[in-house]
Amino acid sequence: MGSLRNKRVLLGVTGGIAAYKSAELIRCLQGDGAQVRVVMTPAATEFITPLTLQALSGNPVSLELLDTAAEAAMGHIELARWADLILIAPASANFIARLCHGEGNDLLSTVCLASHSAIAVAPAMNKHMWENSATQKNLQQLREQAVHIFGPAAGYQACGDIGEGRMEDPAALSTMASALFSTGLLSGKKVVITAGPTREALDPVRYISNHSSGKMGYALARAATEAGANTVLISGPVQLEPPERIKIIAVESAADMLSATLEEVEGADIFIAAAAVADYRPASVAEQKIKKNDDDMYIQLVKNPDIVATVAALAERPLTVGFAAETENLEHYATQKLHKKNLDLVIANDVSDATIGFNSEDNRVLLVQPGTSKALPTMNKSLLATKLIEHIAALLSSSKLKTSQS
Ligand code: PMT
Repeated sequence: MGSLRNKRVLLGVTGGIAAYKSAELIRCLQGDGAQVRVVMTPAATEFITPLTLQALSGNPVSLELLDTAAEAAMGHIELARWADLILIAPASANFIARLCHGEGNDLLSTVCLASHSAIAVAPAMNKHMWENSATQKNLQQLREQAVHIFGPAAGYQACGDIGEGRMEDPAALSTMASALFSTGLLSGKKVVITAGPTREALDPVRYISNHSSGKMGYALARAATEAGANTVLISGPVQLEPPERIKIIAVESAADMLSATLEEVEGADIFIAAAAVADYRPASVAEQKIKKNDDDMYIQLVKNPDIVATVAALAERPLTVGFAAETENLEHYATQKLHKKNLDLVIANDVSDATIGFNSEDNRVLLVQPGTSKALPTMNKSLLATKLIEHIAALLSSSKLKTSQS
């Protein structure tokens, strides 16, 4: 299985004879581990039926921009947020021109306009259309807009011509899509990440905890590994599949998480504290189940050690990144945490909004560093993790540069 594992690929199919290859492309993307959803332009449905692509992808195919049923569930904004990658294959000369000019006159072009994910096009057209200077100018502009151009291949064309303009083979396209996520930005680096909640025991059957699902921390661990890092994930109790190629240390309490962290951060380049660590724990843990004897019950709590601040205070410390889960004054409290805990970066999220933060698919964050902050828009946690890892890798290189110059 390739590096599209857990990636969400939105396959855009436009009108062209190569649309029949989209069926095989879905299989190749799935074989490389991706979840696939399909958006077809009206012209694409003349070449292959939505039913075929629905059966193969296992998801309903989206067709209309103004579809009342779709707007309730997977409308253009939801589709745009869902995707880690939008792959348009085949991409007709007409669609390339529309994408280049930022048109939003059908569902696929609107999703592209609304998305923050990577976009790749696999051109498929007659060789003269491919060679046309207008097409080439459009492609150049798309490259400048960071759109990836996959292919085309050369060979026999449906119209009888021989030359460049055939859509790349599905297997090759899937490999090119995988390569977009294997950036090598953290090649040879050790990254330690905490994720999920902690559980602070009251007695043998009860504990204090919170709603962290671990999704944000697990997505970061995957993104770091895709970027080439040797990743260690220290995880509180969660219901998530253990990611591949990652050392996982399962812990329960803040104390367990601290000792695992201190062991693993030795020699690490980056530490990211995404876990929702309980700030307090019961002062004592009853040996037997606490009995329901009184009408009122009081639990004395004591402060837990602050894991991320402990790492940031080490003499030999990795680049240290914390989160801030706030319900108000996001930037103000995040800046306080940055300074108080001596962090290199705080990733602040507003956990009062149920659509982002705890146990949601999406998140929206503010990146707070000494003297500067940058807001990222709402996106799925996997895509956000990729962008956060890119940011953190750049921070690591610039901090290394500063150290070597001083
Ligand atoms: O797991 P999900 O459902 O995907 O949700 C993601 C998330 C909301 C949990 C995540 O994005 C997040 O915000 N994680 C940090 C939650 C938190 O505990 O925030 P805080 O503001 O209370 O703590 C600030 C920082 O100190 C965090 O990096 C935290 O890991 C760290 N901390 C806190 C207390 C403590 N005793 N030790 C710590 O290391």
